[in-house]
Amino acid sequence: MEALRKTSFLLGVLLLLSVAATLADAKVHFHDFVVQAAKVKRLCKTHNTITVNGQYPGPTLEVNDGDTLVVNVVNRARYNVTIHWHGIRQLRTGWADGPEFVTQCPIGPGGSYTYRFTIQGQEGTLWWHAHSSWLRATVYGALIIHPKEGASYPFAKPKRETPILLGEWWDANPIDVVREATRTGAAPNVSDAYTINGQPGDLYNCSSKDTVIVPIDSGETHLLRVINAALNQELFFTVANHRFTVVGADASYLKPFTTSVIMLGPGQTTDVLISGDQLPARYYMAARAYQSAQGAPFDNTTTTAILEYKSAPCPAKGISSNPVMPALPAFNDTATVTAFTRSFRSLKKVEVPTVVDESLFFTVGLGLFSCPKNFHPSRCQGPNGTRFTASMNNFSFVLPSTFSILQAHKQGVPGVFTTDFPANPPVQFDYTGNVSRSLWQPVPATKVYKLKFGSRVQLVLQGTNIQTAENHPIHIHGYDFYILATGFGNFNSRTDTAKFNLIDPPMRNTIGVPVNGWAVIRFVADNPGAWLMHCHLDVHITWGLAMVFLVENGVGELQSLQPPPADLPPC
Ligand code: C2O
Repeated sequence: MEALRKTSFLLGVLLLLSVAATLADAKVHFHDFVVQAAKVKRLCKTHNTITVNGQYPGPTLEVNDGDTLVVNVVNRARYNVTIHWHGIRQLRTGWADGPEFVTQCPIGPGGSYTYRFTIQGQEGTLWWHAHSSWLRATVYGALIIHPKEGASYPFAKPKRETPILLGEWWDANPIDVVREATRTGAAPNVSDAYTINGQPGDLYNCSSKDTVIVPIDSGETHLLRVINAALNQELFFTVANHRFTVVGADASYLKPFTTSVIMLGPGQTTDVLISGDQLPARYYMAARAYQSAQGAPFDNTTTTAILEYKSAPCPAKGISSNPVMPALPAFNDTATVTAFTRSFRSLKKVEVPTVVDESLFFTVGLGLFSCPKNFHPSRCQGPNGTRFTASMNNFSFVLPSTFSILQAHKQGVPGVFTTDFPANPPVQFDYTGNVSRSLWQPVPATKVYKLKFGSRVQLVLQGTNIQTAENHPIHIHGYDFYILATGFGNFNSRTDTAKFNLIDPPMRNTIGVPVNGWAVIRFVADNPGAWLMHCHLDVHITWGLAMVFLVENGVGELQSLQPPPADLPPC
């Protein structure tokens, strides 16, 4: 009896200690983000670039799963701004998600707002970026989530870790570029360079001496956390003579597989291991466009950084001091993209909802508006005197301008949006065939699709061949989803269901819907709030390739959105 009492006392102490340890483990990280113009010189020219804390790219945030981030954003720039934490679930904290006029009104010049949220059950590489106009061209940084204190990676701990942020640089003010495109209705100018960690690299003018160097030692393993932060371009990425072992994407682990090249759409991240198993020398890492839209102009340049063996003799016998240049796939190599993305499997068996409450089918694609009568021809410089547009289910999404959707929803403000976004395309047609001109003009609207808390959603994303078919990286805020299958042509609900992976489908927050093809995803609507879903090519958001899921509260506090923070920017 006495022994038993002693044991239970000891057990009690142990329990208390472990609770205390867990509590002590979860940290709160405070950061100040001052959005401000800073002089940045690239491609021989200095620009007044909008940055965070004068840094380009912005600061890397590192946390452990379970930690809380408190980021006070102060706007000292002359533009409105918001910050989005791309891929963070924001469970019950939708007010901290960031997309302007969806979850908050923007932070005006001189204003500030504190984003406060906890990372719950996520590990890997994510990132943060501005979510207002095209500010994210330069306002972005990595957000790295390590396993909980004491927990480990599902692979041998690499000797080093380096975030690799792929970006896009305009030799102009990106805000002017999008304003001009919005005025003319034409496609915006393409970028002048791609960048790796903010630097274009050796192949561009005035860039050599600032080329990014990534060190490696013979025999060691290095984790590269690759992030596509480019505004409008899907990118291939490779390293000369080295192979990648892909271990994760969008902060979800994958069954490891090897490849020599990866492709990321804007918004996507991919964690790869490389080993220092080659001759000690210098090797280029390089990125260039994957351009699936035929005939559309794109930036056809190549950005490089250098993987440098620390033991590399300088210049070694027989080894040239010029880094080895890798071969990159052709810009339109869709076969390589398909082979790569079809290798994705979740690391573990997962629980995919097998019953579906909401079966949705959304078309995603471009369109053309004929020139409105009151418009001067200079405002209709799209193909044949039209204006470019884009849509989901034939609705071209228009952001509200006086209220955010989430605030309007919570305060019951009428007239900001309607809840009649259709579950299916208003007209069925041969989406990937020769689409009749009469179907090229969508309807501008601010429509949301309501979801009951906990509903199990299946969504078919169907690309269209309107104007130009292309691969669209579709991102959903506030959610990760399982990718059951992808394919080309029109989705066939009778035969294509046989292709569904219900065992170990990959989980992501951004899916590349194949050019002239489809993707099927599933998720459970367990996070109340207003969640933007959009193409992560920013030019397509500008044109309206977006919609919003409005997820209702469930039962009780733990299934309800928290009240809005007191400093939420006024509209
Ligand atoms: Cu990277 Cu709307 O997000």
